[in-house]
Amino acid sequence: KEHIAEVEKFDTKAKEELEAFRIKYLGKKGILNDFFAEFRNVPKEAKKEFGQTINQLKQAAEGKVTEIREALENAEEDKGVYGDLTRPSEPINLGSRHPISLVKNQIIEIFSNIGFNVSEGPEIEDDWHNFTALNLPEYHPARDMQDTFFIQTNPDVLLRTHTSSVQVRYMENNQPPIRTISPGRVFRNEAISARSHCIFHQVEGLYIDKDVSFADLKQTLLYFTKEMFGKSKIRLRPSYFPFTEPSAEVDIYWGLENEIDYRITKGTGWLEIMGCGMVDPNVLENCGIDSKEYSGFAFGMGIERIAMLLYQIGDIRMFYENDVRFLEQFKSAL
Ligand code: PHE
Repeated sequence: KEHIAEVEKFDTKAKEELEAFRIKYLGKKGILNDFFAEFRNVPKEAKKEFGQTINQLKQAAEGKVTEIREALENAEEDKGVYGDLTRPSEPINLGSRHPISLVKNQIIEIFSNIGFNVSEGPEIEDDWHNFTALNLPEYHPARDMQDTFFIQTNPDVLLRTHTSSVQVRYMENNQPPIRTISPGRVFRNEAISARSHCIFHQVEGLYIDKDVSFADLKQTLLYFTKEMFGKSKIRLRPSYFPFTEPSAEVDIYWGLENEIDYRITKGTGWLEIMGCGMVDPNVLENCGIDSKEYSGFAFGMGIERIAMLLYQIGDIRMFYENDVRFLEQFKSAL
């Protein structure tokens, strides 16, 4: 009976003490086994009470052990969840931005620093915004079914072949001064290869104000290439676009310092990165801007081409295949 009272009083927070308690009462050489062994020697008339009492003791001891063990386990669980705030957490797998988005955002940032806003327009266009307003005569080869995905003919509905269409829309709705860049997806009916795809991305820029000259264009391009590539050696090659006059192709000097660059530039060191020119007065008039009062420049570049250059990507198709082994390589580039 004294033992029962002791058992009922027992409490501990230490596992080792609990184990010692268990061994003391319930172990092989424990108090209970001693009492059971003693049972034989108890006089007949006392056997009943003795038996009942040691059974009570056994239940009390077993109950106590279970009760304390559960309490200790619960306390340990709580500690595991809330206790150690310095323990390492489950790893969280971060996603990555697509290289097209990375380069697009970078271009937007560079031009927004000199006051350009961002304009967007529809990917499905009409003939006017994609061609006619931009001074593309009806016989121009770019209108050929070979180059353009027509959704419908007469009246023509098509997938825009460049984001110059956005500039037309912007001029129709805004008077100068205009400083805007138009990033977006464009479509051309071209054979898919390592160098060209039927879908790609462009950023086109437009600057219209009083007395804008070719020198302003050149300085803007210089600023851009320096910010974008850290290189400022560029050259302008005379070229032709129906919507600009004069027109030029912009080449950047990429150097011949290492083998990879040498391969990309095909040995000359110069690499074409965009087209540009002074907006043709016809285009301004088509869009409701007085060409006697205003002049401006425009430029356009392919985002893939610039991304390929920056990240040394050898095949344009990589951008659209969504191969995680490719995409995961841009994790560190935010
Ligand atoms: N729209 C031209 C293209 O898609 C690029 C360009 C834009 C050229 C503006 C000159 C001026 O190739």
